[in-house]
Amino acid sequence: MPRHVAIIMDGNGRWASRRGLPRRVGHWRGAEAARSIVRAAVDLEIPCLTLFAFSSENWKRPVAEVVDLMGLLRRYLGNDYAAEMARLDVRVRMIGDRSRLPQDLMRIVQRLEEASADHKGLQLTVALSYGGRQEIAASARRLAEQAAAGRLDPTLIDEDLLAKGLELADLPDPDLLIRTGGEMRISNFLLWQVAYAELIFSDRLWPDFSREDLEAALIEFRRRDRRFGALSSTG
Ligand code: IPE
Ligand code: IPE
Ligand code: MG
Repeated sequence: MPRHVAIIMDGNGRWASRRGLPRRVGHWRGAEAARSIVRAAVDLEIPCLTLFAFSSENWKRPVAEVVDLMGLLRRYLGNDYAAEMARLDVRVRMIGDRSRLPQDLMRIVQRLEEASADHKGLQLTVALSYGGRQEIAASARRLAEQAAAGRLDPTLIDEDLLAKGLELADLPDPDLLIRTGGEMRISNFLLWQVAYAELIFSDRLWPDFSREDLEAALIEFRRRDRRFGALSSTG
């Protein structure tokens, strides 16, 4: 079982277009799919799940779509979600640039994080206004500031120190990265953390991605021979 599964939830817009529906409807169905995948992850006892909900580049979309998405997140992460996370013992955290989110959404996220901080089950991370390059740059900037202030010897900067400045520093790196929607790219998700993740690309559009699809991905993951640059343990 992977300790950490990360998912790029792509294909909401195409799901809707294929049905002659507005993209917004695809996002709503995508949010429902996310909810059921969180429940499945709890049932399957996956320790950590990270969902890519909105990238730092998604701000480039038409204002109307961004407004729809922020509205959806407000409703989705609101009160009944907090109750469900309590029932499932899920700890929720957000990674990404909080300063770009609408104030009220930021408060909703903060409340959810605080309310679930002691939950010991699934560690759920939602990446919102998140970019992998931005995250790495921020960590490098903090180290540079410490060095400039004379509090850090630059020759001590190594992978571990840089990784400690990333937002998911306390979680294991994702073992498995799933992208739905058929595109085979990372789109600036967890660039540092996926260095040795197993990648699974699914043609399924995100609103159609089911618990069975997640289980199939876990089976495929178990078939992979992870070598981490060394030689295979099975010879
Ligand atoms: C993923 O679905 C959700 C977000 C990026 C917010 P898309 O909106 O990218 O759907 P497609 O890729 O256009 O089908
Ligand atoms: C990646 O999907 C971001 C999320 C799923 C949140 P995009 O639809 O933004 O990625 P590109 O534009 O196809 O690379
Ligand atoms: Mg897309």
